[in-house]
Amino acid sequence: MKVHRRLTPIIPVAVALGCILAGAVLLTATPSAPTRQDAQYVGQEQCAACHEETVAKFRESIHGQKGFEMRSTHSCETCHGPGKAHVDAGGGKGSMVAPQALSKDKQTEMCQTCHDRGNKTDWAGSLHETRGLACQDCHSVHSPGAAKAQLKTGETELCFSCHKQKQAQFFRASHHPIREGKIECSDCHNPHAVQEAKRVDLAAITETCYQCHAEKRGPFLWEHIPVREDCMTCHEPHGSNHMKMLKVKEPFLCQRCHSDTRHPGTLYDQSQRNNDSNRLYGRSCTNCHSTLHGSNHPSGRTYLR
Ligand code: HEC
Ligand code: HEC
Ligand code: HEC
Ligand code: HEC
Ligand code: HEC
Ligand code: HEC
Ligand code: HEC
Ligand code: HEC
Ligand code: HEC
Ligand code: HEC
Repeated sequence: MKVHRRLTPIIPVAVALGCILAGAVLLTATPSAPTRQDAQYVGQEQCAACHEETVAKFRESIHGQKGFEMRSTHSCETCHGPGKAHVDAGGGKGSMVAPQALSKDKQTEMCQTCHDRGNKTDWAGSLHETRGLACQDCHSVHSPGAAKAQLKTGETELCFSCHKQKQAQFFRASHHPIREGKIECSDCHNPHAVQEAKRVDLAAITETCYQCHAEKRGPFLWEHIPVREDCMTCHEPHGSNHMKMLKVKEPFLCQRCHSDTRHPGTLYDQSQRNNDSNRLYGRSCTNCHSTLHGSNHPSGRTYLR
């Protein structure tokens, strides 16, 4: 009781002061915009007056559907900056943030304020980042050319547009069916995190191959060590002019590790083995060693079955 009574005279004073302050604010800003910064935002309905089609398309896009309700109320102005000056001037160039005019870093920043997680955490330092690509080089939020992920063009076409040498590999006699539309670059690569030391994580690469070639995973009773270690010891991942995307033809492929002077062939470093034949059997080792990726047959030690 005592405490309450002591406080009561103060409250009317505070309220009165508040009213005076609020009145002052009202003179300089609109009632719905409590700070000066916010006063510069006008909302997407205003933009629609002149950019009708852009706004309509944006509303239907994933950003219009969920992105911006979730994280921001500024819609268009989240990326293009506050639009009051632009609207007051009746539109025109130079008064809005025009993404194409920004540095690549700034362009990426526009997107990374929200997209900095999941498979995009390694964007910084990736080759695409260090070679000056921005998100907008591959994506277009307003006029995507592909149904998937707001890409500017279909993925294969997009990657080919810069990676001509890789494109050529996919035109070799034996190739992964990218051109045929059965798989895409992103089945094996994360374009948001391509690394220079592309082979640092061999296990991860082989794991990628297993995703579609599960039968190569084993476990096998008789494992062929190089297969377990790294598919790319023998295969080109994109394409090759040797059958089955091999790096080199048989028998040379096998003879990089197995002696070609005697057969059964020996590993160079196992010359002490007691072998009884000097003949090289034909040219294609896999005619006989048909299960070279590994065998589960009890007598498959030499991958003949
Ligand atoms: C204010 C936050 C925010 C900003 C800024 C933002 N996005 Fe998004 N974006 C989202 C949200 C939220 C989703 C929906 C994600 C989901 O549902 O998982 C999304 C989805 C996407 C998708 C997936 C599309 C699809 O069809 O699957 C792409 C691509 C994308 N954004 C690219 C961009 C690009 C490029 C930029 C920069 C120009 C950008 N975003 C800026 C919040 C944002
Ligand atoms: C997620 C960020 C983002 C949002 C939100 C966004 N834009 Fe854009 N806007 C861009 C980017 C990036 C470009 C550059 C072209 C492109 O990538 O599609 C652009 C380009 C434009 C252009 C110029 C077109 C040109 O190519 O010169 C206009 C006009 C425009 N946006 C209007 C709007 C309007 C209106 C809205 C709201 C309905 C909006 N933007 C929402 C990122 C955004
Ligand atoms: C009164 C009409 C009008 C309104 C309202 C309007 N714009 Fe524009 N806007 C224009 C005109 C005109 C251009 C210049 C187009 C050109 O020359 O290609 C333009 C250009 C732009 C550009 C490109 C700027 C540049 O420097 O290249 C962006 C981005 C943009 N508007 C976004 C918006 C956004 C976001 C809103 C809502 C906040 C908005 N506009 C409201 C008429 C308007
Ligand atoms: C070299 C081209 C390229 C660049 C640069 C690029 N992306 Fe992508 N992005 C793709 C491709 C291809 C896909 C679809 C395949 C996939 O899901 O990985 C994709 C998918 C996405 C998706 C939707 C699926 C997912 O993984 O969440 C988002 C969101 C996205 N990108 C945002 C970004 C942002 C943000 C940046 C800039 C930091 C960026 N992208 C830079 C090519 C690119
Ligand atoms: C705008 C051009 C551009 C586009 C589009 C592009 N890249 Fe790249 N990419 C580069 C550049 C530049 C490098 C740096 C190394 C180089 O020149 O090969 C690179 C590097 C790479 C690397 C690593 C190379 C290495 O030596 O380790 C991979 C993997 C890669 N890109 C995959 C892709 C995929 C997948 C796509 C399609 C989603 C794509 N790129 C689209 C320009 C591009
Ligand atoms: C089947 C999986 C797979 C597919 C699909 C694939 N790549 Fe690769 N790519 C790899 C592997 C594995 C490596 C690493 C090669 C090595 O270290 O010998 C690689 C390496 C690269 C490199 C680094 C340069 C090099 O050859 O050393 C680039 C660039 C590249 N890929 C681009 C692409 C593009 C562009 C596409 C789509 C057109 C694509 N890749 C499709 C698996 C794949
Ligand atoms: C996204 C699925 C996918 C991934 C990942 C994948 N492949 Fe394939 N691979 C295929 C398809 C599809 C074919 C074509 C099969 C056919 O035509 O019968 C194929 C064919 C092959 C062939 C035989 C080519 C020929 O001329 O018959 C080899 C060798 C091969 N892949 C090796 C690999 C290696 C090594 C990796 C890992 C770097 C890998 N694949 C990752 C889908 C995949
Ligand atoms: C020691 C060399 C060598 C290694 C390592 C190797 N392969 Fe092969 N692979 C071959 C040869 C030789 C052929 C062609 C003969 C045949 O069809 O058996 C072949 C054929 C294939 C084929 C097409 C025929 C088939 O069997 O479906 C696929 C797919 C394949 N390899 C995937 C892989 C994968 C995935 C890995 C890694 C887990 C791998 N290879 C590692 C030598 C190798
Ligand atoms: C990168 C080196 C390498 C390549 C290439 C390679 N191998 Fe092997 N191979 C090995 C190793 C290591 C062993 C295990 C030797 C051991 O356990 O004594 C082995 C074992 C074998 C064995 C069983 C030998 C035994 O004594 O159990 C056969 C058969 C064989 N390889 C055939 C082939 C054929 C056929 C090819 C070509 C398609 C090939 N290898 C390519 C390294 C290689
Ligand atoms: C005409 C069938 C045939 C051809 C072709 C053939 N091999 Fe063999 N290979 C055999 C037979 C049979 C054995 C003995 C199997 C056993 O002892 O169980 C053998 C054994 C081996 C062994 C195991 C040797 C050991 O020390 O036990 C290796 C390694 C080998 N071959 C590699 C090769 C290579 C490399 C080629 C191609 C240059 C090749 N083979 C071509 C039939 C063949």
